[in-house]
Amino acid sequence: MWQWDPAKEHTGPGSPRQRGLVYWTNEKGDEQRLFTAVNGFLFAIDPKTGETIRAFGENGSINLGSGLNTPGVTYQDMLILGGLGGKGALRAFDVRTGKHKWVFHLIPRPGEVGYDTWPEDAYKTATGLMPWCGQALDEKRGIVYAATKTAEPDFYGGERHGSNLFANSIVALNAATGERIWHFQIVHHDLLDKDLPCAPVLLTVNHEGQKIDAVAQGTKHGLLFVFDRVTGKPLWPIEERPVPQSDLIGEQAWPTQPFPTKPPPLMRQSYTEEDASNISQQSHEMTLDRIRAAPNFGPFPAPSLKESIMFPGFDGGMEWGGGAADPDGIYYVNVNEMPWLLQMIETRHADGSELGDGERDYVLYCGVCHGIELKGNAELKFPSLLDVDKRRTRAEIEQMTRQGRGRMPSYDTMPEEKRNAILDYVLSKSVPPKASGEAPTAPKSVAEAKSNKPAYAFGGFRRWLDAQGYPAIKPPWGTLNAVDLNTGEIKWKVPLGEYPDLTEKGIPPTGTENYGGPLATAGGLIFIGATADETFRAFDKQTGKVLWQAELPFGGNASPSTYMVGGRQYVVISAGGGKSGRRRGGMLVAFALPD
Ligand code: HEC
Repeated sequence: MWQWDPAKEHTGPGSPRQRGLVYWTNEKGDEQRLFTAVNGFLFAIDPKTGETIRAFGENGSINLGSGLNTPGVTYQDMLILGGLGGKGALRAFDVRTGKHKWVFHLIPRPGEVGYDTWPEDAYKTATGLMPWCGQALDEKRGIVYAATKTAEPDFYGGERHGSNLFANSIVALNAATGERIWHFQIVHHDLLDKDLPCAPVLLTVNHEGQKIDAVAQGTKHGLLFVFDRVTGKPLWPIEERPVPQSDLIGEQAWPTQPFPTKPPPLMRQSYTEEDASNISQQSHEMTLDRIRAAPNFGPFPAPSLKESIMFPGFDGGMEWGGGAADPDGIYYVNVNEMPWLLQMIETRHADGSELGDGERDYVLYCGVCHGIELKGNAELKFPSLLDVDKRRTRAEIEQMTRQGRGRMPSYDTMPEEKRNAILDYVLSKSVPPKASGEAPTAPKSVAEAKSNKPAYAFGGFRRWLDAQGYPAIKPPWGTLNAVDLNTGEIKWKVPLGEYPDLTEKGIPPTGTENYGGPLATAGGLIFIGATADETFRAFDKQTGKVLWQAELPFGGNASPSTYMVGGRQYVVISAGGGKSGRRRGGMLVAFALPD
């Protein structure tokens, strides 16, 4: 019908990538707007014509001042959203004018609740925390629920001692004013990038004879936390259990982490010798060897210079698709059981010499994606920065670190001296590094390490696959689950997806890695794509049996939607692919019920 091209608008430098749309209409239904954020600018568009609404903000947009922004929700005449990078915040804007209505600081200011869970004045420099996975709204009560990401840097917390509220938290705010009603922190002082990966889900359950409006929050470690959505009281007790402590100098891992007593975990919580792959004899021996050499420490290993198996893995567990709920209190969610490798590296050269300021900060902030040696990561499509000076000016790169770009986060609150040192380092890499000639200087004590800059960086995101490229663990590798949140019990659990070559060999469906969420219909079906086998399936809601499936042109790594036109029901999924090593595309595929 129409196409709106962000390239024709002022969006600043960077790729014009968007993370979805929000539709708003007034009560009478005679005013409509679509909202989308591109490169830190929020645009209002007329859904009928695809024209930018020029009366909104400054000639059609407002500058959000931070990179990638997830869609958000509308409440009355406000759009409520959070942004990636920069100081974590949830903000509300007037849908007609773009005028700023309220802000909730996710990194508390002096005098605000949670200020004492950080080092003094952390809000001036700390980053992270934004709710990237979307928000949920109780429209009747006027409460907005946000689930937040970890504080940065993700894997070393030596410069952010404390529990770090409101990181990794579910936060309930008054949607009209932005005032906090309640919160619950699901991971304290996160050292493992355990962002809350999916939006909170609102549902109603019968709990001990009482009807309760609840909110359910899934996690990357496969746990489901369920609260009374008005009071924040957990439906089942949540226990603080001791977790491994850090052997990194300067780090203070939090002594305990929260575990709900119900529902049970939706995935294995540790990798033991019992979990060694049984897909082939070779795979069995290799995985058994490895798990003996690099053990697993459960859902909260403390990052260490020694490698360990990270299981539950970095991407989850539950992922961005999150869950779907039925009016009868059943929650449906897909879960991954993929092992990963965890290792920190010392930010020192092999000869023991200290890294220069720019090099260390590069390793710490940029190395995860662009590689310690600046070579990038071809598998995950992070570009090499070797010879970046031939492609981009210093000013362009600087701007990119301020605003972010595509999947690259923004570092807009990074102190200027740090930014300049990183840029000096990145731009000097075509010149061979000078040998420092200094004697090795490992810090000998916490006090010494604290007086120095952080000496550790994350060694990179690595899945643990066997020699054939299958997850190096006994299946299931991916599951679909129905959880009865009236009783807190798992109703059914089935493998989600399969590898045709393994099925041919007579191995029962293993499930595959999966990214994208389910859709529950009143007609008794769960629709879901998400799998590495690029298939779209309908499951029986009662039993978890596959009732129908169709091949997609690309992986359906998104949540489907359903709609009706002229009395006929359709289901549509965005097939974008690009996950689990599969082809990348970009299609919408719709299916209809027979006439
Ligand atoms: C979470 C991963 C991630 C981190 C961390 C990250 N980047 Fe990036 N970076 C990317 C991605 C993805 C792109 C490609 C963006 C695009 O074009 O859409 C990119 C692009 C770039 C480019 C442009 C490369 C080119 O060939 O044009 C530069 C320069 C850059 N990043 C510098 C940095 C610096 C400096 C840091 C640290 C302060 C950093 N990045 C941190 C993911 C990351």
